[in-house]
This record gives sequence, structure tokens and C-alpha cells, in this order.
Amino acid sequence: MYMVEEYVNASKTQYRDALDVIEEFEKELSEMKGKCVDVGCGPGDVTKRLILPRLSSEAELVGVDISKSMIDHAKQRYRDEERLSFLQLDIEVQDLPIDALGQYNNALSFYCLHWCHNVWRAFDNIYKLLRPGGKGLVMFLAWNDGFDAYTRVHEDPRYKPYMQDADRFVPFFHRCSDSRAALRKMLDGIGFEVLHCSRREKSFVYENMQTLKSHMIAVNPFISRIPDHLKEEFEDVVVREVASRKILFPNKNDNGQQEYSILDRYHILVAYVKKPTGAC
Ligand SMILES: C[S@@+](CC[C@H](N)C(=O)[O-])C[C@H]1O[C@@H](n2cnc3c(N)ncnc32)[C@H](O)[C@@H]1O
Repeated sequence: MYMVEEYVNASKTQYRDALDVIEEFEKELSEMKGKCVDVGCGPGDVTKRLILPRLSSEAELVGVDISKSMIDHAKQRYRDEERLSFLQLDIEVQDLPIDALGQYNNALSFYCLHWCHNVWRAFDNIYKLLRPGGKGLVMFLAWNDGFDAYTRVHEDPRYKPYMQDADRFVPFFHRCSDSRAALRKMLDGIGFEVLHCSRREKSFVYENMQTLKSHMIAVNPFISRIPDHLKEEFEDVVVREVASRKILFPNKNDNGQQEYSILDRYHILVAYVKKPTGAC
């Protein structure tokens, strides 16, 4: 689903937003000891550069991701890190491996959980991975009008055969009128003690259409299914659809040529939770 190099080269937004939350929860991270897990670690850059240095020096960190290519990349790139390891794991799976249950003192997750169609199960699995008393800090997308572009492009007969499941990639919280309340209710229902739960409005300016396109391609779940002869055209259609709902403003590039910057507005959800000490 994810293309590793494309994601590494076009994930400035995700890195910046993860850093914002990690700095805000710096004290909580510094108190995280023992075995910690980063769910949906991707290429491992946020795991290694942003999370690991802020955990207690007694912590070890395991990055897990559904994508084998992400895990292979992270293992190769960070193979010399003693306190860091990577493992392929689907957080949405019905039955977690028995040897993973209750194994982690703390869990973190940045920009992953909106990918989970059954987000309730993903949170329930995070609960199951944690030991009693374990804490979790998660951040993920709640709303971005870019998701509606999937639904519109899916209507185009040229791409429909490759996007039959387009709805599966529109996050659960994207359609909630009060995503913060819905998340809090879900976390309460699973059994978490909710220490913090907020929805935040964020924005990011893409310098020009090309930078928006690189970002969109890196996170578009359909590109790998589109036949080569339709790929370039599909990418242009998706970017045009996404940009059509954004605010564009004129800008001059370094060569003095006119181009358009794109203002992307979106919402994220942040939760800091605890599995109760007495839970089994
Ligand atoms: C946008 S990337 C975020 C990567 C990294 N956390 C970061 O902040 O840069 C989302 C990652 O979540 C992973 N992912 C999606 N669904 C998943 C699932 N069900 N279980 C585990 N990882 C998943 C994807 O493979 C991808 O690497």
C-alpha cells in the first residue's frame, strides 16, 4: 500500500505533526520505561529520531507495521540501534499473536490509526498489547477533505475497477460530527482510562502542485493497483480533485515563475490513555 521511498521523501507534514505532539508530551514520554511499541512505525524515522531519544534510557522500543517493505527498510536503516527493533504486525488483526499479549509497558502511534477500517479493533488490540498500568499516546487524522476525493474519483469509470473498496479508506472519524466525543466513547468502552483526548485543527502549506502531488502519491492506497498506462493520468486527476477543495494562492518560485501554493486544513485526534492497573 505504502511506497517506502516516496513516503520517506514526502512525509514532512507527518513528521512535523508527530514532533508537535511528542514535544507536548515530552514529560510523559520521559517516564515511559520497559518495552514500548510504536504502532504503524512506517520507515522508522519518527520511531528512531523523535520517539526513542525522549523515552527513559531504560526503555526499549519495537516498531511494528503491517507493511513488510516498511519493516525491511527500517530494519536495514536502523540495524545498529541496540534499543530499537522492528516487527511486522497488523494492529487490526482479529487475533493478535499470543506471545504479543500484555507484552508492552507503553504504546505510541503516529499517523497510522486512520488507516484502520476497524479502528475499534485497532484500539482494542493496543489495549491487549499493554500490560496493566501501561500507557498509550496516539495521534492520527480525524478529517481531511482529501478523503472525499477518493469517493469522487471512484465514480470515474476509468478508475472504478481499481477503487471498488474506496470507502474502506475513508477513516471512521472523518464522517463523525463530533470525532473527539466519538473517540472518547470508544476508548472508554474498550476499558481505557482516558487521561487526555482532543481534536486539533491543523494546516500545512504545500509550496506548489508538485509537492502536493508527491505527498498524495506517497499516501494514496490505490496507486499500486492502477495499470502503468493509466498511472500518470490517475495521479493528475487525484491531485486536481484534492486541490479543488483547498485554498490556492499565487506564489513566485526561486526562478521568479508564477506558481500556486496550496493550503491544506485538516483535523487530528490526540489521545493519552492508560490500561487500568487492575485490568487483566
Ligand atoms: C503515514 S504512515 C506513518 C508512519 C510513521 N508512524 C510516521 O509518523 O511517519 C502510516 C503507517 O501505518 C501503517 N499501517 C497501516 N495500517 C496498519 C495496520 N493495520 N497495522 C499496522 N500498521 C499499519 C502503514 O503501513 C504505514 O507505514
